[in-house]
Amino acid sequence: MKRTILLTGKTGQLGSELLLLLPELGEVVVSERQELDLLNPQSIQRAVREIRPELIINAAAHTAVDAAETREAEARAINADAPGILAEEAKKIGAAVVHYSTDYVFDGSKTTPYDEMDSTAPINVYGKTKLAGEQAIRNSGVPHLIFRTAWVYSTRGRNFLRTILRLATEREELRVVRDQFGAPTWSRDIAGATAKILGQLMSQDSPAASLISPVSATYHLTAAGETTWYEFARAILDEATQISPGVPWFAEATQARPLITKRVIPITTAEYPLPAPRPYHSVLSNSRLIQRFGIRLPDWRSQLRHVFEVERTARVTGPHT
Ligand SMILES: NC(=O)c1ccc[n+]([C@@H]2O[C@H](COP(=O)([O-])OP(=O)(O)OC[C@H]3O[C@@H](n4cnc5c(N)ncnc54)[C@H](OP(=O)(O)O)[C@@H]3O)[C@@H](O)[C@H]2O)c1
Repeated sequence: MKRTILLTGKTGQLGSELLLLLPELGEVVVSERQELDLLNPQSIQRAVREIRPELIINAAAHTAVDAAETREAEARAINADAPGILAEEAKKIGAAVVHYSTDYVFDGSKTTPYDEMDSTAPINVYGKTKLAGEQAIRNSGVPHLIFRTAWVYSTRGRNFLRTILRLATEREELRVVRDQFGAPTWSRDIAGATAKILGQLMSQDSPAASLISPVSATYHLTAAGETTWYEFARAILDEATQISPGVPWFAEATQARPLITKRVIPITTAEYPLPAPRPYHSVLSNSRLIQRFGIRLPDWRSQLRHVFEVERTARVTGPHT
């Protein structure tokens, strides 16, 4: 039985990785923005009704955390309303939903890793809208897997890894926040874990919804360990000194300019004010994921090393761009 999977967000850090792995599980349908615009409820309904997928994987989101503070309506439409509509439509046709959320649903006041039973209390618009999206999916009653992840990066797209590499070509000194704790997580490993979980669940010849229903829940899915943005920046620069500058993605990220940063200075959040407040400690416990699916992501530091190693030969063009 060939399953039809509708994937949103195919151009994003995560969606582009899912696009490479999901064909193992079924026929992947990706819609262009003009056909499925998450800002347009009718286009969502029309796409789901026409495609009639067995599984909807929503990797799309409004991820610009600071911009969301002043563009709340747009963030809410994409992060809160659209997942609800996808879920309602999925429910009507007997499909299941896989969705991604964020560590920013927590306020960061806990000093040990958050588990899925901990109370949510987002402190910025992005986190509030993402939490509302989760709740809309849960309230719909559709069989679902919601994966909360964190500090997502990739060698493509807009993310901290690439920002640090660019800044390192421009500034001798970088000032980076050292009082926020989290787990930087490579988008390819999130996609890999998703595909493995779905592969486990959908190995039987039954509808995806009936296979996902028994494990329908929210799961934390991040790299193991924890760090700060400051330590993450230093680790990126350590790896960067060991990579050949001609590696295509690296040359593109640095615009083939030399790295000139000599010092990374730790600063406090108060010294680097941004429009959106961030949680201080948003480390997520992955225990539920490990227990239920036997899947454990590597430690963030070894994952970063691995990214620099495996991406040595990656082309710049391709499904990510
Ligand atoms: N990035 C992080 O640090 C982070 C942290 C925690 C959780 N997450 C969650 O992880 C998931 C994946 O994030 P990501 O970093 O891969 O995101 P991303 O790289 O910013 O990609 C977002 C995707 O959403 C699509 N999109 C945006 N608005 C849309 C609309 N109106 N209609 C249809 N598609 C739209 C974008 O399409 P275009 O290219 O056409 O704009 C893009 O493909 C999201 O649920 C996010 O909330 C991310």
